[in-house]
Amino acid sequence: MRILLTNIKELLQVRPTHIDKISGSDMAQLPVLTDSYLLIHNDLIADFGKMSDLPDSAFDQKINCEGRVVLPTWCDSHTHIVYAGSREKEFVDRINGLSYEEIAHRGGGILNSAKKLNETSEEEIYNQSKKRLEEVISQGTGAVEIKSGYGLSVEGELKMLRVIRRLKENYPLPIKATFLGAHAFPTEFKENHKGYIDMIIHEMLPKIAAENLADYIDAFLETGYFSVSETCQIMEAGKKYGLRSKIHVNQFTAIDGIKACVEMEALTVDHLEVVTDEDIEALKNSNTMPVALPSCSFFISIPYTPARRMMNAGLPLALATDFNPGTTPSGNMNLVVATACIKMKMTPEEAINAATINGAYAMGISDSHGSITIGKKANLIITKPIDSYYQIPYAFGSNLIQDVVINGKICN
Ligand code: NIG
Ligand code: FE
Repeated sequence: MRILLTNIKELLQVRPTHIDKISGSDMAQLPVLTDSYLLIHNDLIADFGKMSDLPDSAFDQKINCEGRVVLPTWCDSHTHIVYAGSREKEFVDRINGLSYEEIAHRGGGILNSAKKLNETSEEEIYNQSKKRLEEVISQGTGAVEIKSGYGLSVEGELKMLRVIRRLKENYPLPIKATFLGAHAFPTEFKENHKGYIDMIIHEMLPKIAAENLADYIDAFLETGYFSVSETCQIMEAGKKYGLRSKIHVNQFTAIDGIKACVEMEALTVDHLEVVTDEDIEALKNSNTMPVALPSCSFFISIPYTPARRMMNAGLPLALATDFNPGTTPSGNMNLVVATACIKMKMTPEEAINAATINGAYAMGISDSHGSITIGKKANLIITKPIDSYYQIPYAFGSNLIQDVVINGKICN
């Protein structure tokens, strides 16, 4: 099957030669081809160029993209899409003045979601989760990472990871599964951290590895959650099973966690609402991608990741949603890109680079996704007619997406 897109007003993120990520001042450059065509052959990008150079090649279907912008689908490298129920009562509690930490101390937060998860059947969790997945695909997400972490028991964590596996089997987009057993200490292990960490390392991990249920491992490295040395034990144990780390760190406090993650060759460090100069130094010249989650900052009213400081220091940056029931009940990457521009002062070019190619890097798929490159998967957003790609962050509350293409097929 060959589909030819013609008269594309602006084709974004055109990278004729392979790149795996973009850093520092290079993030300000977003290669754009105006008045262009793109040829899809089966599931791949087969060709692209200026309309004036359109070759006389055969196709089965033609889509006239006059007035439209075409770009790679969003790569959302950090989500908790698999969960049971919701936590809107905590949302109202926050409006009335409680903080995220205070709510967690009162038994809300992650432990609240864990209770719901353990009481809900695998079938029901799958049904709730697939609705969220379908919604984010319709909003332009064409690759997604999903974490466990609301089980906090052997059975609960396995249940979540099996739901993620079923989503992988039933949906065409790439899904990466991350084991987040170290998301919080269950109440019965509050005074016995070693007991829970032993359970993660000696009970959960071997079972997860035996069923090949995870691609990455994560922990919540934070004051009151997992310490630097506890997180290092988790990262070390994951490494033994071939699982690279993607770590929640520096959300509320900076406790030298980033340096430890870089030393352990983590693929990503995520959140980073609080960042010290030492954290930035540690990330320089590393292969670890920092990931910002601005809709989390927006929703729970905490600082935004200092994107400008980080990019000025030469670092790359990826953007993701953090879709979860507590701190970000939204998986809308368009909103993330807009919030990054409005609140983090990223330019549209920087934000789109962060949400496509750098997002792909942050989930280990930048060889096949995240840019318009011949041979990469044909995962594309086709917008409605718009004046320019600046509209994507500018018109922040509007749905500008006409079609979402995954593996060469229109999905909506
Ligand atoms: O990424 N910070 C840790 N984990 C999630 C929130 C979990 C929850 O509140 O349910 C996050 O924000
Ligand atoms: Fe998260």
